[in-house]
Amino acid sequence: MTKIAVAKGDGIGPEIMDAVLSIFNAAKVPLEYEFVDMGKWVFDKGYSNGMTPEAQSAIESVGILFKGPMETPKGKGVKSVNVTARKTWNTYANKRTFQTLHGVDTVFSKAGIPIDVTIVRENIEDTYGGIEHMLTQDVALSRRFITRPGSLQVIKYAFEMAKKKGAKRITCGHKANIMKITDGLFLEVFYEVAKDYPELKADDIIVDDLCMKLVSRPDLFDVVVLTNLQGDIVSDLCAGLVGGLGFAPSANIGDHISIFEAVHGTAPDITGKNIANPTALLLSGFGMLRHLGLMETSAMIENALLYTLESGVHTGDFGDKSTQSLNTTEFAQAIIGNFGKVPAHHPRPVLSNHYVTPTNFKLEKNPMLETVEKDDQYIVGVDMFIESNEQPNQIAEKCLQHTMGLFKLVTISNRGTQVWPTGSVFTNLVNQFRCRFESIGEVPVTQTDIVELYKLMITDYKVASTEILNVWGGKKAYSLAQGQ
Ligand code: NAI
Repeated sequence: MTKIAVAKGDGIGPEIMDAVLSIFNAAKVPLEYEFVDMGKWVFDKGYSNGMTPEAQSAIESVGILFKGPMETPKGKGVKSVNVTARKTWNTYANKRTFQTLHGVDTVFSKAGIPIDVTIVRENIEDTYGGIEHMLTQDVALSRRFITRPGSLQVIKYAFEMAKKKGAKRITCGHKANIMKITDGLFLEVFYEVAKDYPELKADDIIVDDLCMKLVSRPDLFDVVVLTNLQGDIVSDLCAGLVGGLGFAPSANIGDHISIFEAVHGTAPDITGKNIANPTALLLSGFGMLRHLGLMETSAMIENALLYTLESGVHTGDFGDKSTQSLNTTEFAQAIIGNFGKVPAHHPRPVLSNHYVTPTNFKLEKNPMLETVEKDDQYIVGVDMFIESNEQPNQIAEKCLQHTMGLFKLVTISNRGTQVWPTGSVFTNLVNQFRCRFESIGEVPVTQTDIVELYKLMITDYKVASTEILNVWGGKKAYSLAQGQ
């Protein structure tokens, strides 16, 4: 029997988890549960990451966590246990499947437009590192990391999953028209990986166009892969298409540890009333069973759920308000009572179970993800982010005195828009400028040259941060200012 870790969570968590496990037990799902302590009361006991050391070691040894929603205490300077868990264990792919469920009325179900979209969202990087600084009293900066190895992990997972699912199309959503280097890298990796999957139609779409098309023709999409923040927004949009968060399962997939959970929160307004809808957690449970190779068991319970929904049975949060709603326990019992039944619409194919090697192994050290670096790389300059409320010409005058005969001042920009050597007086300024110095003739310079330039610049300005300008493979590894 495969062992998994189960954290019931806070609020309605224990109610919906008990309901789901009662369904699993009735179906004789061959899993052994190790219940672990995570969530609000664990924070309250003083564990700042929201889990006990015993919980962490149990999850790391079994490799699978099935979890209910958890509350993050407000204003105590602690981070969400949900986000900590995803990041600590490198569950790099967030997979969320959105399907029409008969019995759950939506605009699309009424119009007869079927939805079956899977969103794969990168789960670690992007602005979710939370690396943020105030550069001046007026200017906040968030660092957005998109890495080649991180993109490779999630995109390879998306292609592999799409192939197994029998998908025809895989689409990369992005904003590479604006963020040419970060989203550009993600898109480049997408098409690199696509070469290994000629059977899949791989294409890309700008994320705003994607949103517009998803709400008008969701049936055109199959698997969509996105960076973290864009994926976060697009996946909740898709939840809305199929009936809300109560029907939105989620899987956080990593190489060693994977986490299965519902997307909704702890619903404090209905906690303890036994009226919560366990469907999203149950759907997440199906994802977990399939991940563990328990295809037949998963399809049998899923068909019972679909049959139950089709027959109009519902909890209080959805369905026909003129018919009596069931409470959480009764809803679970109704599903159990429908074991063996097959829904009229989109029954799940019953594939046979296959054995999946458990992922419980220990790592000796942190895996280093690194792709081969090009050897023809060198530094050609630096961007200095300075605090100033002067006019661009005054700043340029001072900067030009510090170039040491080695650098040229190429551009000054404010909020990314060039304001020197050319620009417009109609551009509003904030008290933070980016001054770009490049070496004359773009010859290689050293970090020591940059430190010397820095020492001169700080005689006039507070330099809030710097970024080195690299050239790799003959190409500039930095963006131009708008208007440059
Ligand atoms: P929420 O999802 O808990 O509630 C929003 C609304 O949806 C409420 O009216 C609630 O009653 C309803 N609802 C949610 N799940 C339901 C279900 N299964 N059945 C019936 N109705 C349901 O979102 P909210 O209020 O923003 O967050 C409450 C807490 O949950 C916060 O502490 C938050 O940090 C936490 N949270 C945890 C998540 C996780 O563990 N993955 C995700 C989102 C929020």
